[in-house]
Amino acid sequence: MVDALGVAVIGFGWMGRVHTRAYARLPHHYPDLPLRPRLVTVAEEVPGRAEEAAERFGFVSATRDWREVAADPRVQAVSVTAPNFLHREIGVTLAGAGKHLWIEKPVGLTAADARAVADAVARAGVQGTVGFNYRNAPAVEAARELIASGGIGTVAHVRVRLFSDYAADPDTALTWRYERRRGGSGVLGDLASHGVDLARFLCGEIASLAADTAVFVPERSRPGGATAGHALAPGGEPGPVENEDYVGCLLRFTSGARGVLEACRVSVGEQNAYGFEVHGSRGAVFWDFRRMNELGVCRGTGYRDQPVATVHVGPGAGEFAAFQPGAANAMGYDDLKVIEACRFVRSVAEGTPYGTTLADAVHSARALDAMERSARTGGWVSP
Ligand SMILES: NC(=O)c1ccc[n+]([C@@H]2O[C@H](COP(=O)([O-])OP(=O)(O)OC[C@H]3O[C@@H](n4cnc5c(N)ncnc54)[C@H](O)[C@@H]3O)[C@@H](O)[C@H]2O)c1
Repeated sequence: MVDALGVAVIGFGWMGRVHTRAYARLPHHYPDLPLRPRLVTVAEEVPGRAEEAAERFGFVSATRDWREVAADPRVQAVSVTAPNFLHREIGVTLAGAGKHLWIEKPVGLTAADARAVADAVARAGVQGTVGFNYRNAPAVEAARELIASGGIGTVAHVRVRLFSDYAADPDTALTWRYERRRGGSGVLGDLASHGVDLARFLCGEIASLAADTAVFVPERSRPGGATAGHALAPGGEPGPVENEDYVGCLLRFTSGARGVLEACRVSVGEQNAYGFEVHGSRGAVFWDFRRMNELGVCRGTGYRDQPVATVHVGPGAGEFAAFQPGAANAMGYDDLKVIEACRFVRSVAEGTPYGTTLADAVHSARALDAMERSARTGGWVSP
């Protein structure tokens, strides 16, 4: 008989649903996990949304007030999938109440926010997992191993790109994402945070950076009612976009490697075009999220005209074996969250962290703050 872990989800938009599905799927993919999540309660401020979530996804109860989750003795672990401006208050309060946290990136609006949640988690002695899901892709883990084992030689330079069109339509609703007070630094927290995490995961710490930012769609329409995800609001009253659509950033790693990180939320023609290219002294490795289980691998002794092989990763790579029996059976986005859920629950069960931690969120947030500073001052800065 496996012990139950009472879980709650706060904020039931896109990520709330994905976290909930991940908890539900854990026993299918990881039958040996020592704890099995039990969906206890869901908190959501939009009237009726929590009740609907409970009905459809199987939570025992529903509330509009996330503070009830902090006081709920049935809950041991909480997914914080509310907008960025709430991460700090919710995260600090829940950790203080002894709840383990699976919290979405970027963990607040600034590095100070991420640090506050990290400190609260450390003080309370609870576990904290952060939603940097792209590093969970088996192909990304395989790329990291290839790089770490010297398979492409010494890393010289890396390019990380995160281009999306989710905000390209000027009629995209002016939600929390586009306000500084509630959405923070825009595409920096939204996409570049993932890029920083991937860059660090593959190539180590960033020593300094120089960034440029831009807003390309300065006005959007206010929505008439509740939204989730990237809703449209055609004809709504126009309002100003207060944070960045684009960031371009040069990186210097402590290893001496150089990098370019570019993220944009208004790139027409790009749908989830997230990926990296890492070039070493003897080879290179390429990954594109849209072909998540493939790696381009160039290795050998040829230097010039060395071919690039397409490798379909299989059960030997990362957590692939928990999902499919053989290479080239596709995994998808939600699977990355099942892996994250597994690492979170395992951390709770064993009292030691697996996968991302709040320290990773602090590193990422410090780099994002540094990008903003650099864009303002026009120079190289250290995160
Ligand atoms: N890891 C990833 O790939 C990924 C992808 C998308 C979003 N995110 C992160 O997840 C978080 C949520 O993003 P989303 O796309 O799901 O947004 P969303 O707008 O779809 O959902 C947010 C939900 O939170 C609810 N909410 C707002 N205030 C609340 C409150 N006080 N109490 C309870 N619920 C409240 C909203 O009503 C909404 O339903 C953000 O921090 C975002 O950065 C991560």
